[in-house]
Amino acid sequence: MPSTPELHAAIVATGSYLPKHVVTNDDLAQKIDTSDEWIRSRTGIESRHLAAATESTTYMSTKAAERALEQAGLQPEDIDLIIVATVSADYAFPSVACFVQDNLGMTNAAAAFDLQAACSGFIYGLNLVDAQMRTGQIKRAIVIGAEKFSTYLNYEDRSTCVLFGDGAGAVVLEATEDAGRGLISSKISANGTLQHLLRGTGGLASTGTPGGVEMQGREVFRHAVREMVGAVTPLLEKNKLSVDDIDWFVPHQANMRIIEAATKQMNFPLEKTILTVHKHANTSAASIPLALDDANRKGTFKQGDLLALSAFGAGFTWAGALLRW
Ligand code: ACO
Repeated sequence: MPSTPELHAAIVATGSYLPKHVVTNDDLAQKIDTSDEWIRSRTGIESRHLAAATESTTYMSTKAAERALEQAGLQPEDIDLIIVATVSADYAFPSVACFVQDNLGMTNAAAAFDLQAACSGFIYGLNLVDAQMRTGQIKRAIVIGAEKFSTYLNYEDRSTCVLFGDGAGAVVLEATEDAGRGLISSKISANGTLQHLLRGTGGLASTGTPGGVEMQGREVFRHAVREMVGAVTPLLEKNKLSVDDIDWFVPHQANMRIIEAATKQMNFPLEKTILTVHKHANTSAASIPLALDDANRKGTFKQGDLLALSAFGAGFTWAGALLRW
């Protein structure tokens, strides 16, 4: 008997916004005690976009969503759910997602909320949308990853301020029964007992300021490599696929050395890995959707390509997804 087609989520369009102001490593070296050589050799980062006062998380999210909707050929009213993954919301409440809904002029009562899973937030969002679509609750959604991470940067701390950038990426997802495209599997995970290894030091209810970034870099590095590989391999096994079946690996763009170590462990070629860390730096929840849009607009992905997405971030959180383009 033929199996019943299963509803699931498929990415149908992408969009992004990067702040106009580009800051190179040499620019940073004029301000703090660092060098292009140190940053480039440790992280692979060459430059980052940093947002101006007018480029809020909401502004960048709205632009990214508009561009994704335009590519999809859809109107805002076609959307049933907006999720914004971010650690840098403009206000404690309401959510960035509700501001985006307002900016898009949506009055169709679509659900809208923010999701905080640090750098893993975008894949957490895909996972939730896929579950909603599999149960027939929604037909179309926008997932945005957006960060004005510069809010947290303390230029007195050279070990963290050189690592991050700002930006927003968005995808439009549609429910489909076509087994040849869309999400195959995704899994989201966390281990809060390791929260002390990477965290923001501020917060409205604690210090009343955004605070800075506290990080035990080497520990973060070790866990990031392990969990980013671990986020993908069980999904391959579950679906009787192998690393050789992956057409494109789209990792969280934290650091070139983390990506190199993860691909080496997976025995996966770097040439088939989407890389934007050199020009975006670490944009936390925005990094994967920014990378997806960058590659998509270059025509890198072909219909039916198998993509493996993998992320790791503060919490610790980690997440993986397999999808057909
Ligand atoms: N410029 C110059 N020197 C610096 C800088 C800088 N920007 N920052 C630190 N240093 C110095 C330190 O003061 C230290 O000097 P000391 O030895 O005299 O005390 C020295 O560099 C440390 O150098 P290394 O030991 O080579 O540093 P390491 O190899 O551990 O690299 C790094 C540091 C890049 C942070 C690394 O630990 C790392 O990549 N960790 C992962 C962190 C990460 O990507 N976090 C992002 C958030 S998590 C996520 O998104 C997954």
